[in-house]
Order: sequence, then C-alpha cells, then structure tokens
Amino acid sequence: MCFFSPIRPLAMCAQVCYHRRRKSACAPFRTQTRRTHSMQAFEFYCPTKIYFGKGAEARVGEAVKHFGGTKVFIVYGGHSAVKSGLIARIEQTLTDAGLEHMSFGGVQPNPRLSHAREGVQKALAFGADFILGVGGGSVMDTSKAIAHGVANPETDIWDFWSKKAALTKTSKLGAVLTISAAGSETSDSAVLTNDETTLKRGLNTDLQRPLFAIMDPELTYTLPRYQVGCGVVDIMMHTLERYFNPGHPSNRMTDEIAEGLLRTVIDAGRVAMQDSHNYDAMSEIMWAGSLSHNNLTGLGGVKDFSVHQFGHELSGMFDAAHGATLSVMWPQWARYVVDTDPARFAHYGEAVWRLTRKDGESDRDLALRAIDTTEEFFRSIDMPTTFTELGIGVLSEEQLRELAERCTFFHTRVVGKFCPLDYDGILAVYRMANK
Ligand code: NZQ
Ligand code: ZN
Repeated sequence: MCFFSPIRPLAMCAQVCYHRRRKSACAPFRTQTRRTHSMQAFEFYCPTKIYFGKGAEARVGEAVKHFGGTKVFIVYGGHSAVKSGLIARIEQTLTDAGLEHMSFGGVQPNPRLSHAREGVQKALAFGADFILGVGGGSVMDTSKAIAHGVANPETDIWDFWSKKAALTKTSKLGAVLTISAAGSETSDSAVLTNDETTLKRGLNTDLQRPLFAIMDPELTYTLPRYQVGCGVVDIMMHTLERYFNPGHPSNRMTDEIAEGLLRTVIDAGRVAMQDSHNYDAMSEIMWAGSLSHNNLTGLGGVKDFSVHQFGHELSGMFDAAHGATLSVMWPQWARYVVDTDPARFAHYGEAVWRLTRKDGESDRDLALRAIDTTEEFFRSIDMPTTFTELGIGVLSEEQLRELAERCTFFHTRVVGKFCPLDYDGILAVYRMANK
C-alpha cells in the first residue's frame, strides 16, 4: 500500500516521489511559508477582447467589423435566445452595421458532432467568414467546431477531436454569452459528443480562443435555477482542477486569485440561486466564469482536470448536465486523493471556506472538513452529490466498469496530475458516487 495514501496500492500511486520530496523539502503548506518558494515560470495567452456590461450586445456589429468579418454565421441553441428576442436583436445590429448574416439554431447541451457537421456545410454554402456563437458552452463549442470545419473543408472535424489531424488554422470567431459556466468564451477548449459512439471528447488549442466575447449579465436573468447552479459548480471546478496540482506551492499570486475567485463565486452563487435578476451577483459570476477557465487561476502549475474526465463520461453515456456531473464527482475524487496532500486541502478549507483549525486538529481532519463543506455547499444550491441525485440511479457493476474504461480511453491513459489515476482508481471513485 502507498504510505501516503493507505487506501491505494503502492503501484497505483505515482505521487510517491512527490510526497517524499514534499515531506523533506517542503514545509506543510501555510500562507506564511509560501513566500519561500520562487515564482514558477508560465505562459499566459488570453487574446479575447471583452465587452462587459448592460446592453453590450448592441456592440456586436462593431466588434465583428473590428475583427474584419463581413459574412456572419450566427450559431445558437434550443429556444432561449430566440424567445428572449436576443437573436432578433443581434441580427438587426449586424444588418445595421452592413453585415450579411445567416442564423443556425438547434445546438443541444452536450453538443453533438452531427449537428456541428451540418453547421459546417451550411456555413460553407453561405460563404461565412465569421462564426458568432450566441449562447453557452454548448453553442460556443459548436461554433468552434464550425469555425474549424469552414477553414478546413477537406477534413472531417472529428479528426481534430480524435487527434487524427492537427488543427493549424481556423476561422474568425466571436461570442455572445448567455450563461456563465463553461468559460468557452475565453478558453482554449471545445468539447463535442460523437453521437455515433456517445464518446464526449475535448480539443485544446489556443487557435480557438474567440476574438471577442460580449458579456451582458442581464442576458443570464432568464436562466433556470438548475443552470445557474450548474454554472456555479463548473466555474468553481475550473479553478479547483488547477488549484490541486503537483506543482504547488506555485505562485502566491495565482493562489490568491484562485481563492478570491472561489470565495466570490460561492458568495454570489448563494445570492444568484435565490434571485437570478440580481445584477451584482450575476455580474460577479459571469466575469469569474471567464477568468476561471482562461488559465489565470492556474499560472505556474499544471492542470489536473480528472474530475472533468469523470464528468465527460457521465455526460457521454447518460447525457447528464456538465456542472451536475462535477458536483457529484469532485467530493468523491477529493476524498479518494486527500492523502496525496492533506495540507493542501486543509489550506483550501482555511483560505476558501474560512474554516478555523480546532485545537490539535490534523491537516487530514481539516482537509476532510473542507471537502465536506464543499459538498454541503453543492447540496445547498440543489446540485447533486450522488448518481441517484444526478438522475441516473444506482449503476450496475458493468456500467461502472464501462465508465472507467471509457475514462481511460480504453486502457490507454491515466487521468489527472495531482494524483494520476489508472483504471482501478477511476473505478473506485465512480463506485464512491454510486448511491
Ligand atoms: O438551448 P437553449 O434553449 O439556449 O437552453 C440552454 C441549455 O438548455 C440554457 N440557456 C443558456 N442560456 C440561457 C439558457 N436558458 C435561459 N436563459 C438563458 N440566458 O442552458 C442550457 C445549458 O446550456 P449549455 O450551453 O449546455 O451550458 P454550459 O454553458 O454549461 O455548457 C456546457 C457544455 O460546455 C462544455 C460542457 O462539457 C458542456 O458540453 N464545456 C466546455 C468548456 C470549454 N469549451 O472551455 C469547458 C467546460 O469544462 C465544459 O466541458
Ligand atoms: Zn467544466
């Protein structure tokens, strides 16, 4: 068994050297000791121009023109952006700016490859030179796929996701955000579900960071409560998946930004769940959503993102909402890996949740309280923390094994960096959620 993580066999814990290094070279992580570590190197690239504030969508024509678009292919989702009148307003703004446009709706949550392929054909037939996503992560990721397809008509877009082809060029892309969650409006990521295989897969490249993002918090007032909650969880998770990484203690500035962002989203999330028309709360959440996934909260460290990998398999197999899969899986993952670095989790409890260490309380006990507190917060905003609450019921052993196999890309990878998990580890974490 692993000395530092007694719940796992030694062979599964790739963190042993790291643990030993930390034990000998690093004092337990405390605010006052962090300064002894030198600043870690990083690259930061966030080219997206942000137009933030009430009525910002009126500037969409100006923004497209600024970036040289002339024929705009507008991508949107099911019905919310049509019902609210947003699509009509955007079309009018583009017309007023002298820009040709064509609209393409029907993007579903957990966006499908077949629909993106259809979008590529329509955008090519229209002669689009600018792709404009109006919606959330699903719309933006479809827009990214369409942008790639238009720039590379000879390549099937799934080849970019399955790594058969390398993406070297794309089309111009902009975003009008209607839900604060995925952060796709500034991120380097796009996630699609292949409807033939039900595999949900991500593509990461700086090429697909949008040129601009229009962010009017009032556009999120119509969100259903459940989607507000999913968004709050997803935004927290984009920072937490960077916060727990083997490189820490990394840059103090990065940690302070991460902790401030988490506290802000937690506070604003509580308000937003009661009142989605609260401008201040919806604004804080919207800006945090972009900052949480443009890499600012992870500078100097590496991304872990194992909880996202668990979640993507749940979405692929059961079409579960992304944020909801994360609120189920994070507490399980955290309990499974807590012994990798209890001091880091303890510090998280103190810095983010303002927990006070009790007399004689160990790092591990405080760490577990921090994890429990996070889970209680998810429950308090009506987010699921078990498979039953997620709406997929208690799974059979066969289903759990299938999830774990998919998550290892059929035994070809381990997931995570903080504590890399192989098939057995992944299966164990899924089992913990299976109630
Ligand atoms: O389709 P409509 O009718 O617009 O309804 C949507 C949808 O049902 C609704 N909605 C959006 N804005 C609304 C609204 N309803 C009322 N008023 C509004 N203003 O919300 C529902 C969910 O929309 P979706 O776009 O799916 O949400 P989200 O932004 O959470 O995106 C989730 C997708 O993004 C991926 C996820 O995996 C998932 O597929 N992610 C993308 C990332 C990226 N590209 O960087 C990173 C994330 O980790 C995530 O993986
Ligand atoms: Zn996410």
